[in-house]
Order: sequence, then C-alpha cells, then structure tokens
Amino acid sequence: MNPSKRDDTNPLYSDGSFPRRVYHRFQMPSDRAPAKSGSVALSLALLEEGARRLTSLAAVFVVVSIALYVFQRLMQPQIAPIFDDPVTRLVALIAMLTAAGLVALRQYNVVTSHTLLRFGMCFEIAVALAIAMVETSQPFKPADPLLGISGVGVWLVVAAAVIPSPPNTRLALAVAAATTWPLAYGINAARFGFITESWRHAAIWPAMNYLLAIVAYIVGRLTYGTAREMESDQNLGSYTLMTQIGEGGMGEVWRASHKLLARPAAIKLVKLDASRQVIFAHRFHREANVIAALKSPHTVYLYDFGTTQDGRLYYVMELLDGISLQTLITTFGPQPASRVVAILRQMCRSLEEAHQEKIVHRDLKPSNVMICQVAQERDFVKVLDFGLAKPFGAGEASNLTVEGITLGTPEYMAPEVARASRTVDARADLYALGCVAYFLLTGMLVFNDSNPVTVALKHMKTPPVPPSRRTDKPVPPDLERVILACLEKDPGARPQSAREIERLLAACHVPQWNEEDADAWWQTHLPAASPLRSFSQAPPEALPLVQKA
Ligand SMILES: Nc1ncnc2c1ncn2[C@@H]1O[C@H](COP(=O)(O)OP(=O)(O)OP(=O)(O)O)[C@@H](O)[C@H]1O
Ligand SMILES: [Mg+2]
Repeated sequence: MNPSKRDDTNPLYSDGSFPRRVYHRFQMPSDRAPAKSGSVALSLALLEEGARRLTSLAAVFVVVSIALYVFQRLMQPQIAPIFDDPVTRLVALIAMLTAAGLVALRQYNVVTSHTLLRFGMCFEIAVALAIAMVETSQPFKPADPLLGISGVGVWLVVAAAVIPSPPNTRLALAVAAATTWPLAYGINAARFGFITESWRHAAIWPAMNYLLAIVAYIVGRLTYGTAREMESDQNLGSYTLMTQIGEGGMGEVWRASHKLLARPAAIKLVKLDASRQVIFAHRFHREANVIAALKSPHTVYLYDFGTTQDGRLYYVMELLDGISLQTLITTFGPQPASRVVAILRQMCRSLEEAHQEKIVHRDLKPSNVMICQVAQERDFVKVLDFGLAKPFGAGEASNLTVEGITLGTPEYMAPEVARASRTVDARADLYALGCVAYFLLTGMLVFNDSNPVTVALKHMKTPPVPPSRRTDKPVPPDLERVILACLEKDPGARPQSAREIERLLAACHVPQWNEEDADAWWQTHLPAASPLRSFSQAPPEALPLVQKA
C-alpha cells in the first residue's frame, strides 16, 4: 500500500490522515499460495474427514470379508483349499488386521489423522494384494472364459471415491495397487508351477486394473476437489460455520466455533459485487487492525479477519447473547427515557474510544447495536460493524454521491455524508446517534420515505419534528434538547464529541435505569429460553464435513 496515495473514497479519519500503525497481523487465506491439486498439503479438517472415511471403509471391509469367508465355506466347499493355502491366508490376515488396527487406532485416538492416513495407504495395498492372491491362486485355463473384471480394479476405484487424497498420491496408490495383481500372479505361478500360456489368457484383468487405476485417479480428483470446496465453504481460517444468525444488507452473520478453542464466535461474511470487492476489501483490511485494537467493552471484540477462497470478506467477532436495538423496538415498542439514556451512554463510550483512534463508524443504526447479557450484567450495550459502511457506486444514490463515496444507511445519514462532503468526520456518528435515540424513544425514524434519496435530502434540509411530538410516552425536555442538538444539520452546531454527549445525558433529569430494572425486563421479555436469543445458547453442531475431536 502506498500511504501517500490518498483514498478519496474513505472519509474514515477525521483529519484525513492515515493510521500510524497499519499492518496485517493475521494471515489471510487468500494470501496463501493458491491450492494446486496434488501439491497442496491436506488441511486439518480434510485430514480429519479423510481419517473418518478411511476407518469407515476399513470397518466395512472387515465385515464384508468375514461374511464372504463364511458364505463361501458354507456354499462353495470345493474352493475351501484356496483359503486354506498358508500364504493366501497370511496375506488375507494382514489385510484384516490392518483394517481392524485402523479402526482401533482411530477409536482410541492413538495416532494423529495424518499418521492414520499413512497407515491407510498400507491398508489399501494389503487389501489389493489379498484380493490378487485369491484371484491368482488357480491357473487360468484357456478353455474357461474370463468374465468380468478383477476385484482389485473395483477396490482401487472404491478407495479413490471414499478417501480424499491429493490426486498425485491417489495415482501412485492406484498404480501400486494394480501392480499387486501381476506380483501375486508371479508368486503363485512360481509356487504352483502354472503354465505360461495362461498369462496371455489372464492378461485382460491386470490390463483392466491399470485402466481402472486411471479411472481411480479421475475419481480421486473429484472426491478431493469436492472435499476442498466443502471445506472452503464451511471453514474460514481456524473457524467452522455452524448456523446462520442473521442477514443484513452487507452479508450474513453466522454462529461459528474455533477448531481448537472452546470459544464460540460470530462470523460476518460480507457480500459485495466484484466491482466493489477490491476497494472495500482493501479498505477493510487496512482498518481491521485498528478496529481490533479497540478496547471499549461496548465495542464488539474482533478476533480475526480475512478473505474466503471465493473472494468474500469475513471477520470473526465475539458471539453476543442478546438482541439488536432494531429487534428491541420492532418487537417490544418504544422504550422509556431512562432506559434510552442508559443505552445511549454506553454507545457514547464505545464511540468515544473509536473517535479518539480516528475511526468513524459511518453506519451507526439500531441493527448495528445490541443489548446483551454479559456474564450477569443485562442491557450491556455492544456496538457492531465499525468501518463497514457500504461503498455505493455512482447512480445508486444518484445526485448525492460521487463515484465510490462511502455512505451509511440513508435513515441514519448525516447531512454532510448525504452531501458527499470531503470533510466528514466523527460528528457524522453523533448525528446517527441522535437518529438512534429518536428511534428508541418514538419507535419512528426521524425521516421516512420509500425513496432513499428523498430521505437523504430531508436529512440535509428538513428540520426534524421533536420526538416528544411523535410519542405518547413522556420525553424529558433536557433529553429532547440533547437529541435535537445531535440532529443539527451543521456539524459545528452539534455536541463535538461522544464524551460531551455522555456528559449531557448524565445531566438529564431522568430516573436511573438500574440493574434491577434491566434484570426484571430481561426475565419477563428475554428469558434464557427466548427464541430471540436461541442462537447463542444452542449447543455447537458442526456442519457435516467437519468432525469435532
Ligand atoms: N457478534 C454477533 N453476535 C450475535 N449476533 C450478531 C452478531 N453480529 C450480528 N448479529 C446479529 O445478526 C444480525 C444481522 O447483522 P448484519 O450486520 O448482517 O445485518 P444488519 O446490521 O441488519 O445490516 P448491515 O449489513 O447493513 O450491517 C444483527 O441484527 C444481529 O442481531
Ligand atoms: Mg450490521
């Protein structure tokens, strides 16, 4: 990044400067070498999945082999001598013991998935050799037609379809497995003295085995590719997506779990069309370090961020147990002044720290603020989605924007943002705070219209109706004055900082909203079993591909 090149689309820093310390702390999946099939190492999740499938196949092999042995003894006693041959018995026993050993090793977690998969290769070869030893234990008589194909060919295609392996490994394994047939034939021919003409007669089977080794390679590529695709869909860095929590204009929020830590998290996947992806991802990556360094307990903690393999931006944050202010008002209606003041003061603490760090939220709105239960504390406010305002393209808000300018949501947009002013600063957030306060008290937007351009124009020109005139609930005059001051069109006429607003709110003559009030409200409206909070209580249930240790 060239810091001297000013990004005019980014009114993030109130003085127009760039942050002092911006660097990428986390490695992003997109920064890694592109996944080349055949050369890339298996990820932890793929190793786990591979080990799980391998042991399932081994268990099936044990059961089928025992059943086959019993049925053939009972129904075809004439071929019993084949199984009584000590060398064939030994090879079959090795294959069985390898299979049973794999199941036991996995069951008792004796070795890592990586080691288990290595043993799995021996298992695949041992099974092929056992099949080949049985198939070549009798001489091929030119008079007897040779029907079907060798069991070795079937085995190597089945193994390729079940166990995901890098394609080159799969090809080597399949060729080695196919080679067991001529090897077994050679051993048995030497042991039993078969006549050499039977070679030509039997050559169709080993030839087909080599052909099927190529088929196994193709099947293996598909199996491996699908597993990697599923993995990239469900695994982001060290996190696994579990269930979707919500969806907004910018993307989806998912409950997620860390692969190694018992820490639930929420992941926001940001969806943008390709034209905006680059500029937005670039800006977000630049800002994410600063956002991650914010320490206010009222700002959601950012754990990690990156880009998915298909180019979507994601960030990982703490999983909150609560509801957004949007849900609060749409579900439970306007709130009493005392509670509104308590919520606003906590929001001010979050904003104050961010503004001190020269970060402007830019999209402060009720859905980006949650009231939560944190430990035993209820009505604990968390501000979300710092620095995530949507970059609109030209035409989307037509006359209000220049191309690529960054806007918030029109309903909470400060006049200077709507005007696409170059001097947008933290005071735009204070205007949005006034809009949120208005919504909490009245359940209504300051300005409402189906056309977002009209809404933005009203923010620029129309004086707001005082909140007390839009609700039956009492609105203390000093609180109303603070809200209307935040809603001043001229940023210079507003309170100049979040700290100043917090002081003004503290001085308002409203009854205090204390812990008992919050506890009583939550017990009545949001008990632990409430479906509105269910996602944060749900036991972790991984999506199919990922197995928990
Ligand atoms: N960290 C989190 N923990 C728990 N729930 C969350 C978390 N972050 C977001 N949510 C929930 O997910 C919902 C959707 O959030 P999201 O940010 O995707 O949508 P939005 O805020 O409505 O729109 P936008 O994309 O413009 O921000 C939120 O309203 C909130 O209830
Ligand atoms: Mg949001």
